[in-house]
Amino acid sequence: MTEQKAVRWEKGEDGIVVVTLDDPGRSANTMNERYVAAMDECVDALVADKENITGVIVTSAKKTFFAGGDLDAMSTATAADAPAYMEQTAVVKRQFRKLETLGRPVVAAMGGTALGGGLEIGLACHHRIGLDAKGVVYGLPEVTLGLLPGGGGVVRTVRMLGIANAVMNVLVQGQRHKPAKALEIGIIDELAATPEEMLDKARAWIAANPDAKQPWDQPGYKIPGGTPSNPKLASVLPAFPANLRKQLKGAPMPAPRNILAAAVEGTQVDIETAFRIEARYFTELVTGQVSKNMTKAFFYDLQAINGGKSRPDGYEKWQPTKVAVLGAGMMGAGIAYVCALAGWDVVLKDVSPEAAQKGKAYSEGLVAKGVERGRTTQEKGDALLARITPTDSYADLAGCDIVIEAVFESVELKHRVFQEAAPHLAPDALLCSNTSTLPITELAKGVDRPADFIGLHFFSPVDKMPLVEIIRGEQTSDAALAKAFDVTLGIKKTPIVVNDSRGFFTSRVIGTFLNEGVAMLAEGIDPQTIEQASAQAGYPAPVLQLMDELTLTLPQKIRNESKAAVQAAGGTWDPHPAEQVLDRLVEAGRPGKSGGAGFYDYADGRRTRLWPGLRTELGATNHDVDLHELSERMLFVEAIETQKCFDEGVLTTDADANIGSIFGIGFPAWTGGVVQYVEGYPGGVAGFVARADELAGKYGSRFTVPESLRSRAAEAA
Ligand code: NAI
Repeated sequence: MTEQKAVRWEKGEDGIVVVTLDDPGRSANTMNERYVAAMDECVDALVADKENITGVIVTSAKKTFFAGGDLDAMSTATAADAPAYMEQTAVVKRQFRKLETLGRPVVAAMGGTALGGGLEIGLACHHRIGLDAKGVVYGLPEVTLGLLPGGGGVVRTVRMLGIANAVMNVLVQGQRHKPAKALEIGIIDELAATPEEMLDKARAWIAANPDAKQPWDQPGYKIPGGTPSNPKLASVLPAFPANLRKQLKGAPMPAPRNILAAAVEGTQVDIETAFRIEARYFTELVTGQVSKNMTKAFFYDLQAINGGKSRPDGYEKWQPTKVAVLGAGMMGAGIAYVCALAGWDVVLKDVSPEAAQKGKAYSEGLVAKGVERGRTTQEKGDALLARITPTDSYADLAGCDIVIEAVFESVELKHRVFQEAAPHLAPDALLCSNTSTLPITELAKGVDRPADFIGLHFFSPVDKMPLVEIIRGEQTSDAALAKAFDVTLGIKKTPIVVNDSRGFFTSRVIGTFLNEGVAMLAEGIDPQTIEQASAQAGYPAPVLQLMDELTLTLPQKIRNESKAAVQAAGGTWDPHPAEQVLDRLVEAGRPGKSGGAGFYDYADGRRTRLWPGLRTELGATNHDVDLHELSERMLFVEAIETQKCFDEGVLTTDADANIGSIFGIGFPAWTGGVVQYVEGYPGGVAGFVARADELAGKYGSRFTVPESLRSRAAEAA
């Protein structure tokens, strides 16, 4: 038996070798140099001893079977590292190939999560057994980090599942699947309830399959669904790139395209050549900018946030027992649902029993849908609904240890409902407001305990949107912040923490994006072209469509308040070019989707077409524009406003800005978030500033970068 290596192996009396992945001193196994060297030695030892071996079981001593590629190394890879990556993937693939052609049955006993490189180890085995346990997931999520599975994952899934299934359902989706789903998809062959049962099943499979071979190493093997030379597949294949483009909405994400290319090209050659093709596409991604952006946001930033970087130290983890939700409208109804889903009792209060019941009906609808689609059981759904008590009486709030207010957006009303609720709540109840625009410090003036008052800003629809923006008012205590943080994690959302300001971070920054789109209309640019520019930048919803959803009167109201504040302070209001267009639409009775008309026409609440008046009355007919520049303008105004948020102390960490921008307001994922967009811009911060100066010269002061950014650019130069 070998010691102190990242891979150890031991042969039992039955001739079965148990290979254990166990990188010493590390919490998880990753595909680092230690692992690669140890696995090389292990595989060579197996080959040398194969006459005396009955079979092999690959297992892990860690909680996670295998964590995947070494992201620390990958996140700094440059074009100069390309040959090293080609070589490294070749080594790994040689190991895997030796394993699957050993001539003895090899079983992966994956008793913990196996993602990416972890699952690729499994794919190189003849049989994969998964553990049917809570929290265990299997999948190839590389695409979510801007990468592709470069350890043979593309080649083998395509040969197992066929091009269409592997590409469209596994590789491009990049989902993490629960064990039962992984079995259904076919990336796992069998499930076990316990690690012991898993080993028993592995031994039984070896006994029953002494001559195991991969399907593709058997005579007469054909790729399921055929290769591109098959007329049936050839007839549908041309639609794949179009489908991909539709899914990506034109966003500059190279990974899905490379996945498709590696898959298609790989089916037309022998497996060794297919591996080399896969390696080439992988290397292009790993040394490129988008994978760095996405790894920064979706791995490092998320890990920092969920690891509690913004949670004050020294406070015990807190769980509410009974939640009061004030206002059962669109937001209150969603908040009640996610709290009940977390297992907490919820009192949902509105002005009448009917209004409160209407709010609960939202949860009833979600539960019914969940049961119908097999996502939950009737029993669990009923239990969830039983936890929500709709009411119009404050007396029902007795004993609530947290209140989340979601009544209309009015300071007076919000002050009043907190005062009315106060006598009924637990004496130290956490006081949260879901306001999207009103300063938290101002709202806290209406309560007796401002230290316990905090902003808990949800996004619509609450059950789907992954972010909560926690806003610290001037008097908010650390204890209240720690509790708000725990509540957010308790409902399985990602918390970002910001300091108070009008519109905080998210509402303020998204406002600049929306205004930029509308300003383009004021310049006479055709609305369809504007929508296309936002889609091409990678925004999930086209800008004018989103403006309609959020209503045109909201920015009008915010602008009037800001204008009044500026003028009251003796300043001069610098009007934004979007203002005239918004005013004109509202005057024309087109306040947005909820009003039945906006930039689009609607019939029965459904969007039918862009309003022809944009062209005929506003004269927005110009198609002859630089689409890339339009996209950049949208991204730049958001990035510049974000820098202002840092300067004013609203934001304090890049992670909050990056994750908040992607999860909360749809900043394109390929950028890695609004700060990473600036860092990763060609030429870095200096390149961004130079381009912003060009845009400021053409379009005005909203593209003027703050001095703080200019000096960072100078430092970097
Ligand atoms: P909504 O108009 O759908 O619901 C407001 C609800 O408050 C209504 O059901 C109303 O009857 C109720 N209400 C009014 N006075 C009340 C009282 N005295 N006691 C109890 N309930 C009372 O509004 P929506 O969209 O749910 O917004 C609520 C809050 O959430 C606002 O502050 C808004 O700014 C904020 N918000 C809204 C977002 C959105 O996308 N709509 C996103 C994030 C925050």
